[in-house]
Amino acid sequence: MNGTLAEQWERFRAYVASFADGSGLHPMQQLKLGHTARVAANCRTIATGEGWDEPLADLAECAGLWHDVARFEQYKRFQTFADPRSFDHGDRGAELLAEHRFLDGMPDDLASCIRTAVRFHNRLSLPPDLPERERAVLQVLRDADKLDILEVFVETFRTRSYEQFPEILLHVDPDGPLSAPVVAAVAAGQTPAYQHIRSLLDMRLLSVGWLYDINCAPTFALMRERNLFRGIRQELPDQPEVRAALDRTEARFDIDFSPIG
Ligand SMILES: [Fe+2]
Repeated sequence: MNGTLAEQWERFRAYVASFADGSGLHPMQQLKLGHTARVAANCRTIATGEGWDEPLADLAECAGLWHDVARFEQYKRFQTFADPRSFDHGDRGAELLAEHRFLDGMPDDLASCIRTAVRFHNRLSLPPDLPERERAVLQVLRDADKLDILEVFVETFRTRSYEQFPEILLHVDPDGPLSAPVVAAVAAGQTPAYQHIRSLLDMRLLSVGWLYDINCAPTFALMRERNLFRGIRQELPDQPEVRAALDRTEARFDIDFSPIG
């Protein structure tokens, strides 16, 4: 799919450019453009780590490049990235692929992998009964997406950039407490549902809960390598239930939650 992958990037960039005005893209759309490039690269790295051959790694990268295509329209129309306030950006992304015929020229079975990955990348869990390759591409994409969101989280917490752009954190309360259902889910070894996320602390603990929804071994290796959970213990309240949830997760995944150094 090599020539086609370059073509796919061209189509994507041309589409995104259509949202720019005299001064370029809005910073929030620029953020999504950067996210897209990093997720596409993460997809390739994870796929390669899984031992996929070159054409399949191209396919994974292609899923990454299209996965958030609906974010640009979403921000333009609704000035938010919160799906409940606008539209489901996975479903809308799959619609856009068809509306703009972005995947034209790609073999049907490969195009179908991309459509499935885009549509389901943001669901709480994987839909059952997907054909094997569609499922595999979706799993790589979901991991790649979480990896980058985690990196953005780490950066956002460090710089407190959410104060300027609350959209980044989906309008949650920056100073609110941890919500009990979020703690309970992680303590039970589950990924918390988005409906329970109310505060910045909930989002931080949600990212710990994501570990229970990671599909590929190379993703864990990248999380360790990039220190994505280092120091998280100190960012969360020192309460027995929270400690128990963190202890359990840290041991299960062999990921270090303590600060560096
Ligand atoms: Fe997304």
